[in-house]
Amino acid sequence: MISTDKKNSQYYIDLESQYGAHNYHPIAAVLERGEGVYLWDVEGQQYLDFLSAYSAVNQGHCHPRIVNALINQASKLTLTSRAFHNNLLGEYEKYITKYFGYDKVLPMNTGVEGGETAIKLARRWGYDVKKIAENQAHILFAEGNFWGRTMAAISSSSDPSSFDRFGPFMPGFSLIPYNNLAALEAAFKANPNIAGFMFEPIQGEAGVMVPDEGYLKGIRALCNKYNVLMIADEVQTGLCRTGKMLACDHEKVRPDIIILGKALSGGTMPVAAILADDEVMLTIKPGEHGSTYGGNPLACAVAMESLKVLVDEGLAENAEAMGIIFRERMTQLMGKTRLVSLVRGKGLLNAIIIKPFGNGKTAYDVCKLLKENGLLAKQTHGDIIRFAPPLVINEEQIHQACDIIEKTILSLKA
Ligand SMILES: Cc1ncc(COP(=O)(O)O)c(C=O)c1O
Repeated sequence: MISTDKKNSQYYIDLESQYGAHNYHPIAAVLERGEGVYLWDVEGQQYLDFLSAYSAVNQGHCHPRIVNALINQASKLTLTSRAFHNNLLGEYEKYITKYFGYDKVLPMNTGVEGGETAIKLARRWGYDVKKIAENQAHILFAEGNFWGRTMAAISSSSDPSSFDRFGPFMPGFSLIPYNNLAALEAAFKANPNIAGFMFEPIQGEAGVMVPDEGYLKGIRALCNKYNVLMIADEVQTGLCRTGKMLACDHEKVRPDIIILGKALSGGTMPVAAILADDEVMLTIKPGEHGSTYGGNPLACAVAMESLKVLVDEGLAENAEAMGIIFRERMTQLMGKTRLVSLVRGKGLLNAIIIKPFGNGKTAYDVCKLLKENGLLAKQTHGDIIRFAPPLVINEEQIHQACDIIEKTILSLKA
């Protein structure tokens, strides 16, 4: 029985456990309020947010400009479906395509729908433009990828916890090692039916795997050479997270398809966008793809404001500068303890690797302790902790966070 005597954290955790599916294993923080880099739980405890809802809250929690855009539009018109036009969709489409320099955008809601859309576009382009024989189009992915939980996403996953006992899987997909241009070229050579290579410029869920310098340029060159679409999944790395507007900007490469999501709404609602030029985008005709909520006026208003905030507040530059401080501090920490074996990342997408300690304890136990000390972060793959605060974080706050991480880790016995 769930006690309703006192609506404390345990009450809400028990509610979720009793009535919700058990498909997550959250840290026991029950949050009720957020502002900028801070979150507060139902007991009033304040935390520094070092996950940012998996990089969806780049602009900071409840950014006043984004919330205002949301409220203003919500009180006017929220959804028309694409059966009709609305007065914001075209404005938004013009804004975002000029912003990123592509001919067209296809609006969707979640990141995984963005990935699905990119794959459909690549297959269709494969048939119409590359002239691949019917039903033979192939899409290549990198091992360790994560782009969501739909059947297509898990069909291209190399992580058993994603795909195990969910088969049968989608055909026409295959995997090559990440950060390996020789493997990419070998795959392109072996199969002329490859329509697209979909990859993350930095693999987020895999544990912030940063490829070697030149990898993105190499993908671009090979995609050109073999007439394959370069599909960058920037759902997590995009929108200033890694210190540039897009992670592909670090190597000045222009993918054929870009998938955006998460921070496109500053964490207020699901908004995703797929950007491509006409040769790709116009292969899909009316009635062949869509979504009831995709391109809704509320999302359009919110996305435009979210994109404006990124530039107006210099969030790419701030992510770059704060990321340097963060990695410096973590490197210093590595010198003080054997528990941290590696620090890696770009901008404010960073991770440390924790060696097992104290009788089988893992990075999850470190995250529980970080929470006790006022910082929220989440482990991935057992031994990795990703640190990805809102990009509005300032120098004092980043040092405050590093102090908490340092104090927490140094309190542990290796
Ligand atoms: C790189 C990447 N692509 C796609 C997705 C899926 O986004 P969503 O959860 O909004 O469907 C994620 C989610 O974490 C992601 O990290």
